[in-house]
Amino acid sequence: MKRTKETIVLINCGCAGVQKFARAIRSHHIYTMVMPYTVTAERVMEEAPSGLIFVADAACDKVAAQLAKFQALDMPKIAVNAAADMLPGVKKANAKDDLDVAEVCDFCMKDCACTGSWTMENFVEEAVADIRAQVGDQTVVLGLSGGVDSSVVAALIHKAIGDRLTCVFVNHGLLRKHEPEMVRQIFEDTFKMKLVYVDATDRFLDKLAGVEEPERKRKIIGKEFIDVFAEAAAATNAPFLGQGTIYPDILESIPLDGNPESVIKSHHNVGGLPEDLKFQLVEPVERLFKDEVREVGRILGLPSVMLDRHPFPGPGLGVRHVGAIKRETLRMLQDADNIVTEELHNSGWYAKTWQTFAIFVPVKSVGMKDGKRTYEHVIAIRSINSVDAVTADVVELPWELLFKMSNRIVKEVEGVNRVVYDITGKPPGTIEWE
Ligand code: XMP
Repeated sequence: MKRTKETIVLINCGCAGVQKFARAIRSHHIYTMVMPYTVTAERVMEEAPSGLIFVADAACDKVAAQLAKFQALDMPKIAVNAAADMLPGVKKANAKDDLDVAEVCDFCMKDCACTGSWTMENFVEEAVADIRAQVGDQTVVLGLSGGVDSSVVAALIHKAIGDRLTCVFVNHGLLRKHEPEMVRQIFEDTFKMKLVYVDATDRFLDKLAGVEEPERKRKIIGKEFIDVFAEAAAATNAPFLGQGTIYPDILESIPLDGNPESVIKSHHNVGGLPEDLKFQLVEPVERLFKDEVREVGRILGLPSVMLDRHPFPGPGLGVRHVGAIKRETLRMLQDADNIVTEELHNSGWYAKTWQTFAIFVPVKSVGMKDGKRTYEHVIAIRSINSVDAVTADVVELPWELLFKMSNRIVKEVEGVNRVVYDITGKPPGTIEWE
């Protein structure tokens, strides 16, 4: 078990904002791990912690009954707000909200003797050493999606073992315009990584031909993806598989009350790879929050266009192209989406929204272009803000910006003569259209 020195264990006794709280403590360079109140004292001791923090939104007898095992551990402890009611004799801290960690940080530095050495620079050094120790002189294969997590893991493993890492980048044909070029440019040209680029566009689009039903589309894309990736990964003969698992994936797969049914989401270790592909996993950022992963990426020299991009769904434009996907209409969506993204960047709005994108709507309407009657397709624009993608608010993009996007789309994208703006929040809408 890998240990980080000066670890503080944060015992979650039923606190909705526990991840935010942990993240806030870490921002003071104090390494904090979250464990549920049902964890055993032995598991806590495996991390050789310097101290324990207890958090709860409300006191609860059932939870309180399980806390005695921690009382017996000989180390500094502090209970925040309502948790103090369940831990008689333990020092109490007050916090205004999940981001108020002043008293708790004071406790970590004074009572637990933390020195504030948890920095991402130190993390990179340790992670590189750990990867080298784990992999030895063997090789690693990694599925590069173009997203933040897999990109940072690629850069980290590459720093540790260089050419013994092979990245596999599968183009399923449903990527954004210029995406394959961008990924290849960064990883092949700049980082000089070994990259296997698999253009499986035809394979995916042939399988998807005529398929309208959203869930079937997703299943086809998911299954093909695993097949194509597994083939390419097996061809490398690497015994190790690099993965971009991050801390929230792990935390949300641990049940707070010990009951597997209370898991928020299950964590699929190998991204659904077939059982017979027996890889050993290398997951160097599994204890980092998303913004820490980004910081590691910056330290390793990944560009902001890669690190600060909007979330993009695994099935790609497949869930933004309503109905059966044809090459011609997919091209319309890629072109329109590219215009939306360009104008967002030009106007400074890209960083102000969580996700903003185009959707292809398989409806034709009558319009006028160059004095002639047209009968062409519709593109929708959607812009939302969110903190966790569970709920989302519509962003009121300036009309001027929307007009610019709309004018460019109808002018530059052949086959589209109308643009509409999606003003539905989540709920009742979902962020993606399919
Ligand atoms: P919905 O549409 O469910 O989306 O409101 C919530 C968030 O998840 C993203 N999303 C996906 N991400 N694979 C992914 O990796 C998927 O199949 C998928 N579907 C939706 C979506 O972009 C939004 O951020």
